[in-house]
Amino acid sequence: MNLHALFGGVVPELAARKHLEALFPLTQQVLRESGVSLKEIDCIGVTVKPGLVPSLLVGLSFAKALAFGLNKPLVGVDHLEAHAFSIFLQEKVDFPFISLVVSGGHTSLFMVKGEGEMYLLGQTRDDAAGEAFDKVAKLLNLGYPGGPVIDKLAKEGDPQFIPFPRPLAGAGWDFSFSGLKTAVVQYVREHEGEMRDRQHLAHVVASFQRAVVDVLVEKTLDAARYLRVPRIVVAGGVAANSALRGIMRERGEREGIKVYFPPMALCMDNASMVAYVAAYRFAKGESHGLDLDVSSRSVYRRLIHEG
Ligand code: KG4
Ligand code: ZN
Repeated sequence: MNLHALFGGVVPELAARKHLEALFPLTQQVLRESGVSLKEIDCIGVTVKPGLVPSLLVGLSFAKALAFGLNKPLVGVDHLEAHAFSIFLQEKVDFPFISLVVSGGHTSLFMVKGEGEMYLLGQTRDDAAGEAFDKVAKLLNLGYPGGPVIDKLAKEGDPQFIPFPRPLAGAGWDFSFSGLKTAVVQYVREHEGEMRDRQHLAHVVASFQRAVVDVLVEKTLDAARYLRVPRIVVAGGVAANSALRGIMRERGEREGIKVYFPPMALCMDNASMVAYVAAYRFAKGESHGLDLDVSSRSVYRRLIHEG
């Protein structure tokens, strides 16, 4: 985290090196603390997509070595599927449900019909929501990652203070956040003096946060309404956002839609959600050979054809 804060974001090459340094001691620590031995493990689950290829390769190489050495099956997992099912580590949710996976790298809306049965409804055309939080925080010198800092500071501000745009509002289930970020850049440029005032700064971040939250809430509820699915699960790092949690819950309740958020620790990237998906895929008979590869992108089936 400190390394990423130093550079104001994730540098792929440095991140991969850190992964390599951390993986072995981390695995030893997890085994020690859990009291589980490698022999007791049924299969090795590993994230293979989507994401930064250098980091994915470090994880996959490590997983392959473990699987080969222990003679255990290897199961490749999609990171977004892992986020979408992270809630199941806490509680069971009936199918189907609408899943909003909203993180630093992704903003995607899915219809989830069963284990591993995900259909893409919409996704961001440019920046992810978390990326917008991180970029706005960087612009305002608030540090990295931006989400938690903005979340905290926004509590002191008025979310109606500046009417920032709600990108692609009412225009289907795709998202766009780069225009909103540019609107903040422009506002800050035009109000340099006022930005030195903490209260004004709080108003700006609260207004920006509300614009992001409004779009996420509207589109997710619209999908639930249109597809007549009375359950929404929000996952990914941005699901930790207090305004998103509050407004999505309140709006859902008003419309008879049950809204689920995983506990904070499961919102952020974590290995247990990957293990969960690997476990149900393995139980269905899925496993991969040592020629398994990583991919920067994932391709999901669309429920409704684009356009
Ligand atoms: O899921 P995650 O841990 O990693 C990715 O797969 O990207 O999400 C990290 C992202 C970062 O962009 C961070 O700023 C954002 O989640 N985030 C938040 C909050 N906590 C983390 N965004 C808004 N409000 C928060 N409280
Ligand atoms: Zn993630």
